[in-house]
Amino acid sequence: MRSNSKILPVILAAILLLAASAIGYIKTSEKAQMPARILFQNNGGKVIFSHLVHHRDYQINCIQCHHEKGTDVMTVEDNKALDCGSCHPNEFNDEYINNHMDSFPNESYCVRCHHTEYEAIIFDHEEHKDYADDCYDCHHGKEIEPEPQKCANCHKGDDSGDLLSMRLAGHQSCTNCHEDMFDKGLSSCKSCHVQVDMTQYEGDFTSCNKCHESETRELVLPRMNAFHDQCMSCHEENEVGPYGPDNCNQCHITR
Ligand code: HEC
Ligand code: HEC
Ligand code: HEC
Ligand code: HEC
Ligand code: HEC
Ligand code: HEC
Ligand code: HEC
Ligand code: HEC
Ligand code: HEC
Ligand code: HEC
Repeated sequence: MRSNSKILPVILAAILLLAASAIGYIKTSEKAQMPARILFQNNGGKVIFSHLVHHRDYQINCIQCHHEKGTDVMTVEDNKALDCGSCHPNEFNDEYINNHMDSFPNESYCVRCHHTEYEAIIFDHEEHKDYADDCYDCHHGKEIEPEPQKCANCHKGDDSGDLLSMRLAGHQSCTNCHEDMFDKGLSSCKSCHVQVDMTQYEGDFTSCNKCHESETRELVLPRMNAFHDQCMSCHEENEVGPYGPDNCNQCHITR
């Protein structure tokens, strides 16, 4: 067994060597998958961005800029990073909406925007019978509902015809007693709606404006603003590099 004490250092050295070469490999492959400079041709005058220098010398993590899956996941994989324009187009117009699904490597990127869906309603019908004076606090009288039944028998997904959508019919009816639940805006929706784990979700996506009152471009910045914001808020925060109204041509080469 004594010979082990001679072999051990050798094995250790070999492991160290392997580890060192692995680190070396990671470094070179990082460089290989990372363009050193990026040229943006655009209406403001072309911009040359020192990509590699920003990462290597200014020590900025990939995901700080490439935040395609949110902040907690390493996003730059398989030698790929998405164009910012995949998610920050000039406009969220029909062309974008019809084609955008094809610009992502796989479905895990979708949840960055299609980030929540509602499943069943949290509503205890039995208990509510006691809270109300009678069934007609919520159900229509006999002239509309011959007998109490599911609202969805008549109220549908959209405001079709004269009839309120299921959403408005439900909300309006619950509001009679639960106005407070709607007061807190989007953060209060989950008092009645079960939220779905989007990584498991397989249904259709609800459009943003069913839940959000703001337009999509106020939720997700359009292209130019996405670049300007990302580049300039970092510069401004750290008081480095070009930012502010007078320094346009430190990025844009006009002429
Ligand atoms: C300071 C911000 C920043 C950092 C840090 C950064 N990138 Fe980028 N990267 C960009 C921008 C901006 C683009 C251009 C995207 C576009 O054209 O829409 C880009 C483009 C790329 C592209 C090319 C994408 C394409 O369209 O082909 C790759 C690959 C890439 N980055 C990888 C990386 C990797 C890997 C790291 C970390 C080692 C990294 N980047 C760090 C901002 C950054
Ligand atoms: C997979 C989609 C996706 C990609 C790719 C993407 N973004 Fe975003 N980005 C979003 C979404 C969604 C938001 C909305 C705010 C949120 O969810 O935090 C956002 C927000 C932003 C914001 C607002 C501030 C912030 O960080 O929350 C800036 C600036 C931004 N993105 C710039 C960029 C730039 C520059 C790139 C390319 C390097 C990029 N984004 C790539 C989806 C994406
Ligand atoms: C607080 C409001 C409220 C009160 C009070 C109420 N209901 Fe309902 N009821 C509803 C809602 C909302 C639905 C639809 C639930 C759904 O679709 O999941 C419903 C559904 C029903 C259904 C259809 C159930 C099914 O699964 O097909 C029946 C039957 C019904 N109610 C009977 C009654 C009767 C009888 C009373 C009075 C004793 C009553 N309800 C009181 C709100 C109420
Ligand atoms: C048999 C069809 C039918 C069913 C079932 C039904 N509704 Fe309606 N609902 C109507 C009609 C028709 C109107 C329009 C009444 C009017 O204009 O006076 C209406 C109107 C409404 C309105 C608008 C305000 C009002 O009272 O006129 C609300 C809110 C509403 N329904 C909620 C509900 C809820 C909640 C349920 C289930 C508990 C439900 N409805 C079930 C047919 C139905
Ligand atoms: C007639 C009045 C009335 C109506 C209409 C009504 N509720 Fe309620 N609801 C109550 C009362 C009273 C309670 C129990 C006290 C409390 O928790 O606020 C309650 C409790 C609840 C709770 C549990 C709250 C908690 O904090 O645990 C939920 C969820 C809820 N209701 C959902 C609904 C939904 C969804 C509707 C519409 C379909 C609705 N309610 C319509 C009176 C009503
Ligand atoms: C007091 C309970 C309650 C609250 C709070 C609430 N909802 Fe609802 N919501 C309902 C009911 C009841 C329905 C209709 C029943 C159904 O769709 O099964 C509904 C339906 C909807 C629908 C339509 C779903 C479909 O399948 O057509 C949307 C979208 C929706 N709600 C969005 C929201 C948003 C966004 C918020 C927060 C701002 C919110 N809700 C808060 C009770 C509530
Ligand atoms: C940058 C945000 C963003 C990302 C990432 C994104 N989507 Fe969308 N998607 C939208 C917007 C905005 C709409 C327009 C409808 C709306 O208002 O919700 C939409 C609509 C859709 C629609 C409905 C199209 C129609 O014709 O009504 C489908 C289906 C869809 N997206 C699938 C996907 C899939 C699959 C992915 C991932 C591979 C994805 N989306 C990634 C923002 C995004
Ligand atoms: C089913 C409802 C629902 C749908 C559909 C939905 N959202 Fe949201 N969204 C929410 C809720 C709820 C929050 C607040 C989350 C919280 O505070 O916990 C939110 C928050 C956000 C935020 C964070 C900033 C803010 O305004 O609070 C962005 C950005 C966002 N959503 C973008 C989108 C985009 C883009 C779409 C469409 C592709 C979309 N959402 C579709 C419910 C929805
Ligand atoms: C997360 C922070 C961060 C982001 C995002 C960022 N920068 Fe920088 N930038 C820096 C830092 C740090 C410096 C170094 C300034 C110094 O050392 O004087 C710098 C310097 C620069 C300079 C001058 C020196 C050089 O390297 O060229 C330019 C031009 C520049 N950035 C352009 C951009 C552009 C274009 C973008 C967006 C595509 C961007 N930056 C995004 C942090 C950032
Ligand atoms: C930190 C670097 C930086 C600074 C400073 C900067 N920009 Fe930009 N600008 C960019 C980048 C990166 C783009 C995106 C290029 C693209 O879309 O491919 C851009 C895009 C633009 C566009 C093109 C819009 C389009 O539709 O093609 C205009 C116009 C513009 N900037 C104007 C300005 C003005 C005016 C200022 C000064 C107030 C300014 N920029 C400051 C980096 C910068």
